[in-house]
Amino acid sequence: MPTPPFFDTVVIGAGAAGLFCAGRAGQRGLKVLLIDHAEAVAEKIRISGGGRCNFTNQGLDPQAPHKHFVGQNPQFCRSALARYTPADFIALVQRHGIAFHEKHKGQMFCDRSAEDLIAMLLAECAAGGVAHWQPCGVRKVVFSAASAYGADHGSYQIDTDRGPVAARSLVVATGGLSIPKIGATDFGYRLAQQFGIALVERRPGLVPLTFDGEAWAPWAQLAGLALPVRISTGSKKTHMAFDEDLLFTHRGLSGPAVLQISSYWQEGAPLAINLAPGTDLEAALAQSKACSRKRIANELGQIVPSRLADAWAARDADWQRPIAEASDKALARLAGQMARWELTPTGTEGYKKAEVTLGGIDTRALSQQSMECKAQPGLYFIGEVVDVTGWLGGYNFQWAWASAAACAQALPAPA
Ligand code: FDA
Repeated sequence: MPTPPFFDTVVIGAGAAGLFCAGRAGQRGLKVLLIDHAEAVAEKIRISGGGRCNFTNQGLDPQAPHKHFVGQNPQFCRSALARYTPADFIALVQRHGIAFHEKHKGQMFCDRSAEDLIAMLLAECAAGGVAHWQPCGVRKVVFSAASAYGADHGSYQIDTDRGPVAARSLVVATGGLSIPKIGATDFGYRLAQQFGIALVERRPGLVPLTFDGEAWAPWAQLAGLALPVRISTGSKKTHMAFDEDLLFTHRGLSGPAVLQISSYWQEGAPLAINLAPGTDLEAALAQSKACSRKRIANELGQIVPSRLADAWAARDADWQRPIAEASDKALARLAGQMARWELTPTGTEGYKKAEVTLGGIDTRALSQQSMECKAQPGLYFIGEVVDVTGWLGGYNFQWAWASAAACAQALPAPA
């Protein structure tokens, strides 16, 4: 049998984390092979940020990762985020002459297209002499404690669609489960199980929420309507709130407010939505009552979108009259319910619509310096496959870059 080609490092998954790690490791002088089973490279970068990729967030505070990251131990990502910051990635983007802008709350986007960023990552790989096999599936991974290559800590035999290869280190960057139609698989989780590495339960994150069909029917007619809200969930200890836009859909709620809260929402728990944040609705309606002859829905339509005002007024006979004729009690009830609209989602739109996967490789199994498995030398997990999930707004890509940089730096160089 001929000896399979040997690499210092094989990286599985040519998404954000895998491309970045492969390029940096290659530029350190390592012989790197990057493998991905999908037809197109980095599909998630391509579709992200509406095609312009929200590639980082300037507001990220590496010293306080719990502010923008969810997971069993959000402090795990502190070291990597502090050593490779949004400013570092922005400097790289600038070096490649890619034009970008800040859109909202520190979110950085390409001016032209996410393709510019993919081209940048591929150029970084080329600069590192990275071999790139794509499309190429991985069939099997085996670890040999006694390496045939003289390395002192064993090696990985990787059986691929293009034949077997061997490597001193194996980096798993296969991402999460969201959007299976563009290549997401559970490969990383299955490999973790093969090596006895603990997993945190997975569920869709940054995902639209759905409601029982019949109960939702009155609101479904508002599909397409968006408005700024304050949305919250959880009890005292777990309370979380976001001030963002909400979007009505045919099956439930979406928009940045709902995507953000979905990563904190627990099945069966209610959401509370203030439909007129920043306005004292009760006082505003009382003031209108004193001087207006209009119907309640019309007055409400000055504060929230008129379609929403109509839908709320239609809910109660007491609210379907001129405001001057409404009782103070009826107006206070309307104001109270709209300022704290309590509703319990029945589920989510699932992985086909989720931007990320919550859970994944248990961070207790990994070194926070290098992303290497503590109990399995030479095996690394980076990016979304790890139980680190960022908020909407560029945080997930920054985690991909930072975890990849930490890993690339730590990979053992050839003797
Ligand atoms: P990623 O999913 O990017 O890459 C994994 C790679 O592994 C893929 O190329 C896949 O084909 C490959 N792979 C999987 N299984 C394999 C197997 N069995 N064998 C070989 N290869 C395999 N984040 C953000 O910060 N800003 C944003 O604007 C957005 N926008 C956004 C929009 C949409 C629609 C989605 C779905 C997601 C986002 N995100 C985002 C999230 C972001 O895309 C995500 O967190 C990163 O892409 C994760 O990077 P990874 O490299 O870890 O996985």
